[in-house]
Amino acid sequence: MAITSEKSDMDKIIAQLREIKAKAFQGGGEDKIKAQHDKGKLTARERLALLFDEGSFNEIMPLATTRATEFGLDKNKFYGDGVVTGWGKIEGRTVFAFSQDFTELGGTLGETHANKIGKVYELALKVGAPVIGINDSGGARIQEGAIALEGYATVFKMNTLASGVIPQITIMAGPAAGGAVYSPALTDFIIMIKGDAYYMFVTGPEITKVVLGEEVTFQDLGGAVVHATKSGVVHFLAENEQDAISIAKRLLSYLPSNNMEDPPYMDTGDPSDRETKDVESIVPTDSAKPFDMREVIYRIVDNGEFMEVHRHWAQNIVVGFARVAGNVIGIVANNSNTLGAAIDIDAADKAARFIRFCDAFNIPLLSLVDTPGYIPGTEQEYKGIIRHGAKMLYAFSEATVPKISVIIRKSYGGAHIAMSIKNLGADLVYAWPTAEIAVTGPEGAVRILYKRDIQNSQNPDEFLKQKIAEYKKLFANPYWAAEKGLIDDVIEPKDTRRIIVNALSMLKNKREYRYPKKHGNIPL
Ligand code: HXC
Repeated sequence: MAITSEKSDMDKIIAQLREIKAKAFQGGGEDKIKAQHDKGKLTARERLALLFDEGSFNEIMPLATTRATEFGLDKNKFYGDGVVTGWGKIEGRTVFAFSQDFTELGGTLGETHANKIGKVYELALKVGAPVIGINDSGGARIQEGAIALEGYATVFKMNTLASGVIPQITIMAGPAAGGAVYSPALTDFIIMIKGDAYYMFVTGPEITKVVLGEEVTFQDLGGAVVHATKSGVVHFLAENEQDAISIAKRLLSYLPSNNMEDPPYMDTGDPSDRETKDVESIVPTDSAKPFDMREVIYRIVDNGEFMEVHRHWAQNIVVGFARVAGNVIGIVANNSNTLGAAIDIDAADKAARFIRFCDAFNIPLLSLVDTPGYIPGTEQEYKGIIRHGAKMLYAFSEATVPKISVIIRKSYGGAHIAMSIKNLGADLVYAWPTAEIAVTGPEGAVRILYKRDIQNSQNPDEFLKQKIAEYKKLFANPYWAAEKGLIDDVIEPKDTRRIIVNALSMLKNKREYRYPKKHGNIPL
């Protein structure tokens, strides 16, 4: 009798728990969920269900609520406080996530919401697992006043402490206004979805109009396309929510779980000694003719699979992840199809940040070089190409991962150094027979060296032509540099893949140390 009664008490207790959990799991309720779907958006939990291996997600603090009482916040219980947090498996690997729930309190960030994200970060850092943040929020919860701002400070600090320790990926799946944009900005990669429901800006169109008299739409100010093409804030452009999740998963497949691990090896089946003869027809021997360096990359890496980062921004430099003989590499390559592959401020920023990410996470670096130099002119000088260009030099010098350079064609001046050469710390520097390596391009060089002779010449044009030809003969090839020992070998294009595979295999256990310091001071 007693046992039955106890059992029925237990049943009641469990029923109560289930009732509370059911309320918590419904987020903001049916109407809000419908409104979310009507905007073409998924709910926080639907997104997590797509992201994680089936049934693997473990939610934490689903019952946490705000402690604030102002503006009627105590009238209802908002279980979860507008964010779903926890961990699960993605392709069998442990990953943490937070997913803001716009259906509940507009996904706004208050004290409890922030603490839940903080808890995810604490655990992720302890066990060394990546964090994926799915952002969909009205920003700082106005009712919680400055406490909400402290909450953002908690998140920003955790983003920063985690930087370089565990990979952090943001999916922009809703609005982000004001300081709220800075948590995504502090993470390693932002994937943003195209469409009206998704935007991010520091100041919205209304205030922009009041302050500057400038009229602009939400999308033109802060839509995914703008950020992927103009500002460089966004690394990957997603067609829709499902696409954003697939991009996050693909990206993770290239990344180690933390800075103490190597990136995941994968048997790709692509023979390590495969010849890359077809690259010969892609690169024009006339170095004035542009070509798409991506076509070379596709042919060198395993199965042509290259995950390009910042594909639509600063296209004069190409960066991204690939595998060779199953091992992950980070590629930094000049692309003469844009700006003739001259390095400008955006290209330098893009490359430097990528190089530093790879170095932090033990991903070897491959440079494919074809650049005439840093870009000249007042526009770039006034914006600080000196400061920004220095970032590439800093990033490559600082990096201790294996570094291999292949000079494909032009490699001139400061940009020759910035793409990673011997004295900057490159482990191996190869050149194709089409390489041109010098302080500056032929015409500029001759005009400086023979300034007076040109002025005094009876026929300056002819004199110039003759001197340019002499200069080209000397420097527009890799042999002068090879004879001086500045490059390790001149290689046939068809052997490029095999040589890179062998070099990376030799460098696998590379160890290089730096002077102990609190941190460096990269020019920003
Ligand atoms: C409290 C908010 C809120 C906020 C939205 N809501 N933003 N509640 N604080 N910041 C609430 C709404 O009142 C509404 O509540 C619910 O969330 C859904 O919002 P709607 O406006 O109905 O949705 P929608 O029409 O889709 O518009 C979304 C929006 C808009 C564009 C995000 O809500 C908006 O402009 N919100 C304010 C954005 C903002 O200025 N945030 C502060 C930025 S500064 P009900 O009860 O109706 O469901 C900031 C500082 C960070 O974040 C500082 C870090 C340093």
